[in-house]
Amino acid sequence: MWLYLAALLGLYFLRRWYQERQKVENLTEKFVFITGCDSGFGNLLARQLDARGLRVLAACLTQKGAEQLDKVTSERLKTSILDVTSKESVAAATEWVKGCIGSKGLWGLVNNAGTALPSGPNEWLTKDDFAKVINVNLLGMIDVTLHMVPLVRRARGRVVNISSTNGRLAVFGGGYCPSKFGVEAFSDSLRQELHPFGVQVSIIEPGGFQTTIAARALENLKNVWNRVPSDIKEVYGKQYLENYCKIAQYSINIASSKLHLVTDCMEHALTSCSPRTRYSAGWDAKLLYVPAFYFPTSIVDFVMSCIQPKPAQAV
Ligand SMILES: NC(=O)c1ccc[n+]([C@@H]2O[C@H](COP(=O)([O-])OP(=O)(O)OC[C@H]3O[C@@H](n4cnc5c(N)ncnc54)[C@H](OP(=O)(O)O)[C@@H]3O)[C@@H](O)[C@H]2O)c1
Repeated sequence: MWLYLAALLGLYFLRRWYQERQKVENLTEKFVFITGCDSGFGNLLARQLDARGLRVLAACLTQKGAEQLDKVTSERLKTSILDVTSKESVAAATEWVKGCIGSKGLWGLVNNAGTALPSGPNEWLTKDDFAKVINVNLLGMIDVTLHMVPLVRRARGRVVNISSTNGRLAVFGGGYCPSKFGVEAFSDSLRQELHPFGVQVSIIEPGGFQTTIAARALENLKNVWNRVPSDIKEVYGKQYLENYCKIAQYSINIASSKLHLVTDCMEHALTSCSPRTRYSAGWDAKLLYVPAFYFPTSIVDFVMSCIQPKPAQAV
């Protein structure tokens, strides 16, 4: 019986492997819109898809980012400016996309723009600090998606949302983890709703990668600490801040520099005939975060209590 089961399992994986390798036809005629292309994954994906011959519509937060991307890509790739937190900017970007694609529809929407600024222990932050991050990572993504979905539906295309392993496991404070949990929830309901229209929705869950996002949040941590009320400072103590920074710096140092592991997942979600619902990218995502998601909370909390620094007034 075990032999039959093993053979069935083998056949299932073989079939899946074969199906996932089949590529969508006429990729060079397909338009893909990507947010947050100034740096990191968005920037690399824009260049990668451009090199494959797809028609990339790259949205950058800054003019400088757009100009730099223009310089290193083909005539096919077009750039525009988009701040996902601004209603006007999202509406203008949608009009720009409509003008670029004509009657074809939008094959791919990649919601990549994100920030972790500010992050830190929850008690050190304000509601506005949480709102800043959630506005970009979750509400910005939702606004862009609601504007672009009719165009994606026309092409029976793909939506690719960039979440994080922190969308499965929250291991630090601030708006980042709640925003990524929200990305997971939004993407799940969107996938179910768009399925009848032939639109597929994929979620990318990278582990730690060396982009600017975490380094910027760490750089800003001392500013956060400086405005923490003095009674809360006493509860945590200066040593807590120093140890917290050391741990954060260590996780940045061990983060992977192979950004292509993430952009390859994004490319697969856009170009394979059988895209996956979820992609985890990086060894830490595959071996640590995703398995830990299935562990009992008490075990995860115990491990975290061994790693996290102790506050001065801990009991
Ligand atoms: N790196 C990791 O370890 C990691 C892990 C899991 C998930 N992710 C996710 O991956 C995505 C890309 O991040 P990254 O790691 O590539 O970091 P990144 O280099 O900082 O890229 C984030 C991009 O989003 C842009 N952006 C920020 N605020 C924006 C706004 N309001 N409107 C439009 N664009 C905005 C940034 O522009 P500026 O550069 O001009 O500020 C930048 O181009 C994010 O969603 C992030 O949460 C990253």
